[in-house]
Amino acid sequence: MINYELQIANYNKRMLSTWAFPTKIIFGAGSIAQAADITRDLGIKRPLIVTDPGIVKCGLVERLAGPLKKAGLEWSVFDRVEGNPTEASVLPGVEVYRRESSDGVIAMGGGSAIDAGKAIRLKATHALPLEDYDDLKNGGDKISADLPPMIAVATTSGTGSEVGRSAVIALKATGRKTVIFSPYLMPSVAIGDPELTLELPPHITATTGMDAMTHNLEAYLSKGFHPFCDAIAIKGVEIVNEHLRTAVHDGKNLEARTQMMIASMMGAVAFQKGLGTVHSLAHPLSTVAGLHHGLTNGILLPYVMRFNLPVVRDRLADLAGALGVDTRSLSPDQAASAAITAIEKLNADIGIPARLSAVGVTPEMIPKMIPKAMEDGCHLLNPRPTTAQDMEMLYREAL
Ligand SMILES: [Fe+2]
Repeated sequence: MINYELQIANYNKRMLSTWAFPTKIIFGAGSIAQAADITRDLGIKRPLIVTDPGIVKCGLVERLAGPLKKAGLEWSVFDRVEGNPTEASVLPGVEVYRRESSDGVIAMGGGSAIDAGKAIRLKATHALPLEDYDDLKNGGDKISADLPPMIAVATTSGTGSEVGRSAVIALKATGRKTVIFSPYLMPSVAIGDPELTLELPPHITATTGMDAMTHNLEAYLSKGFHPFCDAIAIKGVEIVNEHLRTAVHDGKNLEARTQMMIASMMGAVAFQKGLGTVHSLAHPLSTVAGLHHGLTNGILLPYVMRFNLPVVRDRLADLAGALGVDTRSLSPDQAASAAITAIEKLNADIGIPARLSAVGVTPEMIPKMIPKAMEDGCHLLNPRPTTAQDMEMLYREAL
């Protein structure tokens, strides 16, 4: 006798999910030329451009300012965003925003500038200190729709923050990279112009590219129930695997740059489902050791895949196919292991070291990082529950 009530209850439990897809994306080589039209369409009259000194120096802000100027718009620039943004990348920006009577934000850069732009936009209308919006304390509930419009212009292919709804800021008050999450933080429009990434040096292309890979891969393995995101994630893994090597070794290749920008956005869409332990281990490596987020993700990814293997063997076997492994004659165990080897090979091909010690991490740093990794919310959706002992073991293994 089939218990239909139980079946329906289980079915509903599984199906009661919120699936929302992201912001409007204006995509393609040369799409930056539309910046002024987009600004006007959003009703922004005096945008604040939020960026970092590197973007200014390499002339990319000019690519944005040109169309604004042509359209007769006036703008201000806040260009003091740090590599791993802290309050210092946000609060002075809010002051400029107010002083210049800005009425919208155009963030241009990698994840740091875009996240700082989101936080400036938040603080322009929300009075509480940044730590009160901490996602770990359900701070997102305190964020209302009352945010000025925002355009996000990506200049790297990795973070995907331009299509995401979170800002990651390292706050003094929390002592860690703090995730602020709200659907209202999502930029009003994202501009994805792969031409802006043509000058990125190989090592930044490699590390940001591995961030995109990690987003897609961790999202695919994460515990959430989101078949839409799964489909995007596995395709994202395939695209990164196919095009990252070319983007690193032949930076002017517009096709590879285009594909990487697509995969980066796909990663950020996919990780609405969840991320995992790679990100929880990686975040303290930025705050404690000052390392690039994508670099640490790339190094840690194979170790965490191996840790997860016993509980997600079949999912890892799916990923092997996306990573270019011919799985037809392989058992599921062999295919899952081949997925890990494929990531190690990709890292080696693009110059990402296999160990954390190669980038200056020392054993003394580990005890400090373990509690921060545990406090980080990403691992809560890792397919295999991760204890403090596991975190320590993974740091030591990767050292
Ligand atoms: Fe990431």
